[in-house]
Amino acid sequence: MKIILGVGGGIAAYKSAEIARLLMQEGHAVQAVMTRAAQEFISPLTFAALTGRKTLTDLFAIESAIEHISVAQENELMAIAPATADLIARLAHGLADDFLTTLYLAFTGPVVVAPSMNSNMWRHAATQANLETLRRRGHRIVEPDSGYLACGMTGPGRLADPGAIVEAIERESRRGRDLDGETVLITAGPTQEPLDPVRYISNRSSGKMGYALAEAAAARGARVILISGPVHLAPPRGVEVISVRTAAEMREKVLENLAPAGIVVKAAAVADFHLSKVPEQKVKKTAARMSLELDPTPDILAELGRKKGDRLLIGFAAETQNLHQEARRKLESKNCDMVVGNLVGGSETGFESDENEVVLALSTGELLSLPRAPKREIADRIFDEALKLRLALHAADGR
Ligand code: PMT
Repeated sequence: MKIILGVGGGIAAYKSAEIARLLMQEGHAVQAVMTRAAQEFISPLTFAALTGRKTLTDLFAIESAIEHISVAQENELMAIAPATADLIARLAHGLADDFLTTLYLAFTGPVVVAPSMNSNMWRHAATQANLETLRRRGHRIVEPDSGYLACGMTGPGRLADPGAIVEAIERESRRGRDLDGETVLITAGPTQEPLDPVRYISNRSSGKMGYALAEAAAARGARVILISGPVHLAPPRGVEVISVRTAAEMREKVLENLAPAGIVVKAAAVADFHLSKVPEQKVKKTAARMSLELDPTPDILAELGRKKGDRLLIGFAAETQNLHQEARRKLESKNCDMVVGNLVGGSETGFESDENEVVLALSTGELLSLPRAPKREIADRIFDEALKLRLALHAADGR
């Protein structure tokens, strides 16, 4: 694979020589690009010697005025290590004042960012907000290690081990566009079930998990149809969004869009009960107490389980206890290929949070735990496992 290795100006810059060496050893072609500050720490010649290519350093000392465009087009993955707080801020805000940041804007492939800085700079709200922007853009952030730092402090901020960075690059390069040609149907967010013209029953789903899945699938080349309950999120780039409100509307749109889908992911938190006959006027407070008689909503996932054919069907299970058993039970009772179980309620992850921690119950009988990570990363891991599962199912029964 052809990889751009961007080197920022931090004390850890010397470690990126080891990253270049390991990538070359794995058979990749590496184009090193250094910021001006990086050259204060290590010479461009070191990278030229290791990669066998001229190191690119200066926007105005290149052979053609559009070299950043051709370098962007020729390469398949961009890794930036070390990424300083300043470089991360420039990437997040799209500032293009040197070769590396200009190249970054022209590059359309997967990006891996390995930060390195002082602990206080790492924890600063500005740095964390900039990293969140990069994560939401789908970039892979290789978290820094904790330990003794060159500034004399001990804490998070030390560049991750070069081997771990190369592993993250390898994982990202394998993903590439492995969903090219696929149509993925995803549901996200809550549903709202009206009680009268001004009131409704709903839940705490923000839509973040479903939208992260949509972003991940689109980045991997899929056509993505996202059927979304009411949320406050921007539509992911390149995704067809269909907005719905109730469970009945969600069912209708899911069934309408099912035909082209090879993978269906039901991340929406669909209300289980609704009022079948909604009063036309606002209900008045006429008594001290009132009770509601609710009917079940259509179970969309169970219906998909009956109709799925060759499709890969992935359900979710939001539980407050017995996560593993419930994920397995829903896998079987709804005829899914995978159920993603997550704890909700008292848990810091699950509803509303930017992060999640899940178990994957697979129809092969396996149960995989994915540790706490940004929802975008969890989304990629779900598709990694879904594609492996499909291969295993194909092998087992010729699907
Ligand atoms: O949106 P976020 O704030 O990011 O939060 C993410 C999440 C917690 C909502 C998400 O990770 C999640 O767990 N989604 C499923 C929530 C849910 O409804 O779980 P459940 O265990 O009640 O339902 C099981 C499965 O059946 C789900 O796939 C659900 O979409 C589906 N279902 C449920 C009821 C119904 N009437 N029809 C359905 O299809």
